[in-house]
Amino acid sequence: MTAADTLLSVKGLTKHFTLHGDIYSKLAGEKTQVLKAVDGIDFHIRRGETLGLVGESGCGKSTTARLVTRLIEPTAGEVTLKGEDLLAFSRGRMKEARKEVQLVFQDPYSSLNPRKTIMHILDPELVIGDEPVSALDVSIQAQILNLFRELQKEFGLTYLFIAHDLSVIRHISDRVAVMYVGKIVETGPAAALFDEPLHPYTKALLAAVPEADPTKPAPRLTLQGEVSTPIDPPPGCRLCGRCPRESAVCAEIAPPLVDVGDGRQVACHNL
Ligand SMILES: Nc1ncnc2c1ncn2[C@@H]1O[C@H](COP(=O)(O)OP(=O)(O)O)[C@@H](O)[C@H]1O
Ligand SMILES: [Mg+2]
Repeated sequence: MTAADTLLSVKGLTKHFTLHGDIYSKLAGEKTQVLKAVDGIDFHIRRGETLGLVGESGCGKSTTARLVTRLIEPTAGEVTLKGEDLLAFSRGRMKEARKEVQLVFQDPYSSLNPRKTIMHILDPELVIGDEPVSALDVSIQAQILNLFRELQKEFGLTYLFIAHDLSVIRHISDRVAVMYVGKIVETGPAAALFDEPLHPYTKALLAAVPEADPTKPAPRLTLQGEVSTPIDPPPGCRLCGRCPRESAVCAEIAPPLVDVGDGRQVACHNL
């Protein structure tokens, strides 16, 4: 992969929200809390491809979309658009960039007609869809997803497609990034990731989706408990306390996202 193939890349992208609490908690001497909505994520999107960003509600998907369009400013990290430092763009240059990068929010009206939304902007290159079909009836979703793909071919668009619904992500994505509580836990080509998920969280997500082909063994893995909180999370892996593979190191050190071959990356100490 050359730099020219990469349309967007983010490195160490971070957004922490400081929660100040109310006057009573202040009087009680309670410390301010930090909500780590996005906590040091890396990903890239190549020209013409669709990267699907998937994870349960509250894991930081929309915050990521807002950061890469600079609707909000990051706490730390880098965003590079076509080789340029997006975070250093002046107001005027950012205005120009917004014509190249378009955000399609979850909105049944605009997403019912992505052609209209996409064509409305002068020459979009990168379209960021934040749950664009989530509000739609399942029977219409596939048609709209197909329309997104037709438009992509017709106009050579690149997509960052965000959804909590795995079947939507599977339908549209070339590559997938799986998020859990502010971190990316696994990325890879969609087919490989869905056929053989490697991270325990990805396995659990897939196990929750009914297998369309009954002859295929479903990946069985269930996690204990509820989704962890992003407020003042302890060091170590976010899946601690829920993961069947957990070992001593997991509570101490957050596993980095590492290459495991075939274009796949996984953040787990115990693969
Ligand atoms: N402006 C904000 N102030 C404080 N917390 C926020 C703010 N925006 C988002 N969050 C929190 O950040 C986390 C990630 O939210 P979000 O990015 O919307 O997740 P998703 O889109 O994956 O559902 C959630 O815990 C959410 O409550
Ligand atoms: Mg969201």
